[in-house]
Amino acid sequence: MRPIPDWLVVESVSDTEIGVVTTGKEAQIDLVERTGHDGRTCLVARKRYLPREVHNKGELEALGFQRASTFRHDVRYREGRQFRKSRDRRAVERMTTYGKHLLQDRWTGHEYDVMSALWQAGLTVPYPIEYGTDVLELEFVGDRDGAAPQLRSARLDAVGLADAYAQLVDGLTLIVSAGWAHGDLSAYNLLWWDDRLWFIDFPQAVDIAANPMGLDFLHRDVVNVCDWFGRRGVDTDGEALFAQLLAVM
Ligand SMILES: Nc1ncnc2c1ncn2[C@@H]1O[C@H](COP(=O)(O)OP(=O)(O)O)[C@@H](O)[C@H]1O
Ligand SMILES: [Mg+2]
Repeated sequence: MRPIPDWLVVESVSDTEIGVVTTGKEAQIDLVERTGHDGRTCLVARKRYLPREVHNKGELEALGFQRASTFRHDVRYREGRQFRKSRDRRAVERMTTYGKHLLQDRWTGHEYDVMSALWQAGLTVPYPIEYGTDVLELEFVGDRDGAAPQLRSARLDAVGLADAYAQLVDGLTLIVSAGWAHGDLSAYNLLWWDDRLWFIDFPQAVDIAANPMGLDFLHRDVVNVCDWFGRRGVDTDGEALFAQLLAVM
């Protein structure tokens, strides 16, 4: 087991919102400074999922969100993630208030679980701190002056791109060895910071063995991100990398 990171303020006395990092497709990321008993501080990225039921801009703003959005809620991604209790299954099928609550909880809990497993496996992924019904707290990648850039805007030169690609291959190898497919891998969901490639945004990650479309998602991820590197002059072959990854499963 990797030990809890030493920068982390475990028992917080106060949290101060420093600003909004981004409002993405279905979540808003806030930068929070956490202070502990001994006065130590750390930076936390707080990912808040936009509520599913509310689509009215005014209502969203009343809840403190800056932009309306829709939730990715695709049944294909949820396959292989069953509710063990039949009472819970029925509630989800009938979409009762309780069922919706369960689904939402599973969503942040799922992202937390996948990121924890991958952090433990040694992947460069923000340390997942905690989750609640519609919130996930992560290590903030960046510093007080701003968040790490997404790979697409990191302005890497040829040497940097080759380095990022090598890290992509290592990262994918770890993810697949652990049995997961990211499911939405792109130059938006990779960050570049401290000369390292950070993998983020895992709510739709699927268990390759349990999900009948697991390999399709993996294939799409690999081809998608290899194409991105290929267009920037990196010598890549998505199909060959996919085959290489199948061998580590
Ligand atoms: N831990 C983090 N540290 C710094 N920036 C982050 C972090 N997590 C997310 N971001 C930024 O917020 C954006 C949106 O977060 P993401 O998890 O991809 O949610 P979504 O794309 O579903 O809205 C990311 O592309 C990245 O720019
Ligand atoms: Mg994203």
